[in-house]
Amino acid sequence: MTKIVSMGVHILDVLGRYVSEIPPGQGISLIDEIRITAAGTSAGTSVDMAKLGCDVTAVGALGNDEMGNILVGILNRYGVKTQYLVRKDGVQTSGSILPIRPNGERPALHVMGANAVFSFEDVPHDAIADADFVHIGGFYLMPKFDGPDTVKALKLAKESGAITTMDILGVKQENMAEKILPCMPYLDYFMPNLEEAGMITGLSDPEEMCQFFLKAGAQNVVLKMGERGSLILGADGKRIRMPAFQVKLVDTTGCGDAWSAGFVAGLSRGMSVTDAAQLGSACGSLVASGLGSDAGIVDFESTIKFIGTTPTLPLGD
Ligand SMILES: Nc1ncnc2c1ncn2[C@@H]1O[C@H](COP(=O)(O)OP(=O)(O)OP(=O)(O)O)[C@@H](O)[C@H]1O
Ligand SMILES: [Mg+2]
Repeated sequence: MTKIVSMGVHILDVLGRYVSEIPPGQGISLIDEIRITAAGTSAGTSVDMAKLGCDVTAVGALGNDEMGNILVGILNRYGVKTQYLVRKDGVQTSGSILPIRPNGERPALHVMGANAVFSFEDVPHDAIADADFVHIGGFYLMPKFDGPDTVKALKLAKESGAITTMDILGVKQENMAEKILPCMPYLDYFMPNLEEAGMITGLSDPEEMCQFFLKAGAQNVVLKMGERGSLILGADGKRIRMPAFQVKLVDTTGCGDAWSAGFVAGLSRGMSVTDAAQLGSACGSLVASGLGSDAGIVDFESTIKFIGTTPTLPLGD
């Protein structure tokens, strides 16, 4: 089986639905559901890929704490290999509290924790050398790793012949383009969402945003556009416009992480880029139908069945 390394942010999410307001004083609100998930553009994607039957090795940093133990427990439960996750003293495992609003929106309270101290020194060269795919998730939320360290990791992956993919967590900051553009020549697929690509490029047209990253050296750019689906442009002139699938919306946490998971899983099974993008889109939409970043995805077969039986949403172009 092809081997996938998923490197980057590891976050323990605690989600509750639905929350319209924090109760005043010391009040209690009774809500419908609370879940705890392995999340973030690396860990969330790892769980989804494992559910789709992939061989996934996690690379990232956790604290030496209960939250780290829980995160490892969740990853292991789905079959993600965790032997390369490093434990850092003096920092907690990264976590988010997500009170989901009745309309599916998700404000977040976040602690960066161990993701802030993950660096190239923590990257296992043997796992990279062994990998067919290296996915990096969470650029802009790993201050030590973002920048030259990410470039070094991508370079290592390319030198050993892996296909490289990257998703980001576009937290607004200074010099966003300057920080990320050096990664582009080492990326087979750069996969931000529309808002993030807008923040980095200062542009508003999706095609122009893609061209911006292609010009910087990316082989392909995937723009994830929520219910409007996704757009892929390639340096080879490829253009794919993939719709999203129609689901009853519960919570959009992790839709993009799931898109990445379906896409990489599809490529790793030898699917065409178009079919892999359709699998990605299905995974993203399935995750929108439940609470948490892995909700809705069961396995590869049921996801293929979902594709065959679910109407798509209008592209809105
Ligand atoms: N409301 C929705 N209904 C159906 N499908 C959706 C919806 N929102 C997202 N999706 C699916 O998930 C994919 C990725 O979602 P989105 O563009 O929101 O990514 P994202 O912003 O990176 O998400 P996140 O970073 O929160 O994981 C979309 O391309 C689409 O296929
Ligand atoms: Mg995203």
